[in-house]
Amino acid sequence: MAKTPSALIVDTDIQSRFEAKQVVKASGLTISGECSFGMEAVTTAEELRPDVVFLGVTEPVERALQTVEALQSLMPDMPIIVYSATKELDIIRKAMMAGARDFLAKPIKPETLRQSVLAALESEEKRKLRQLGQIPGAATAGTIITVFGAKGGIGKSTISTNVAVSLAGQERASVVIVDLDNGFGDIAGMLDVRPERTLFDMVRDLDMIERDDIERYVVKHELTDLDVLAGPTVLEWRKISPDQVRRVIEFLARNYDTVILDTSGMLNELAEMAVEVATIVLWITTTEYASVKDSLEAMQALKMLSYSQERVRIVMNAISPDDGVRPSVVQDALQRDVFWNIPYDRKVRQGTHLGQPIVVTAPHSIAAKSLADLATVIAGGRVDKGGKLQLPGFKWRGGAAVAEG
Ligand SMILES: Nc1ncnc2c1ncn2[C@@H]1O[C@H](COP(=O)(O)OP(=O)(O)OP(=O)(O)O)[C@@H](O)[C@H]1O
Ligand SMILES: [Mg+2]
Repeated sequence: MAKTPSALIVDTDIQSRFEAKQVVKASGLTISGECSFGMEAVTTAEELRPDVVFLGVTEPVERALQTVEALQSLMPDMPIIVYSATKELDIIRKAMMAGARDFLAKPIKPETLRQSVLAALESEEKRKLRQLGQIPGAATAGTIITVFGAKGGIGKSTISTNVAVSLAGQERASVVIVDLDNGFGDIAGMLDVRPERTLFDMVRDLDMIERDDIERYVVKHELTDLDVLAGPTVLEWRKISPDQVRRVIEFLARNYDTVILDTSGMLNELAEMAVEVATIVLWITTTEYASVKDSLEAMQALKMLSYSQERVRIVMNAISPDDGVRPSVVQDALQRDVFWNIPYDRKVRQGTHLGQPIVVTAPHSIAAKSLADLATVIAGGRVDKGGKLQLPGFKWRGGAAVAEG
């Protein structure tokens, strides 16, 4: 999805069509053409082959809905996003039944359209890969959370261990954390566990491993039931390929609810794989300007600016007490919202020295609360602080990342 997606605008109302064009342009998409409903829409779409159709539902709605249906049955791979000023649930429902992928209420924000298009294209891409058997079916796959950042020492391991421990503490959740830091990763040390085997052994034995064998390769974090798959030694890393590691991760995702990947901060093939395989990437940046700049460059290198907000979520971690850049600066630079904000807390370092994550050693500290809440939100839960924090979108409002609406 490297090129800019193109949209065909289908709308009979001249004024509404004009407005739609403005929104498409402002959202950074290209306009492949414009037309009215019915046959004209079908022939234009067949001729231009846009990435998405952006269709206005105006009265009488029947013709618009018929057009959605015709386009959908002729070109099922092409997502149709409809927009309307209506608030009638019945019409929205009918549009979805006719095959629309999303429904946007007027007035439409360019960013909302952009996200909608990216999400539609991403799920279309996944559907195709699934059909080709290149990724496991969604029904069998757990959530893979990759904790990534453009450099070392920015809190990736702190965040991955704390989130993993918090998630594992939730009822009936099976969670495994995998140390993918091929520099000098030390997840085992941070959780004070002594592994007998590592990812290296699992790569080697994968073809013979069944579900029940997994426990021989992982080690349990006693306090929380979290499973830890320790990282290979530096020399062992040289003997295994990113593709072999990917197969292990996919195997784990078929057997755990959540797989958490801690990474090194280097932009290599292993990192690229870890980002590609992820359901969610927690992209860590600190509040220093250099860190934001590194993030932007890394996102460009990994071609990640086209990923949806749902998939790549920016987490700002304050690793020093000094005032850094404001999240609005990060938002402008990276062109996406800051999803979460972790405050500076000296107890984090103390936790590291004690060999346990801060959510265990000091659960009431501000950083521990923030990390535990992050885990809850990732797991699809809500964190309600007097109505301050709600899903799904987060916006910065002095001091904490809080809900958009
Ligand atoms: N919110 C925070 N407040 C205070 N200190 C923090 C915070 N987050 C992380 N730290 C500290 O920053 C240091 C680096 O954190 P961590 O080891 O998690 O980073 P990393 O990105 O995994 O580094 P590496 O790439 O070297 O593995 C640690 O000493 C940790 O205790
Ligand atoms: Mg680390």
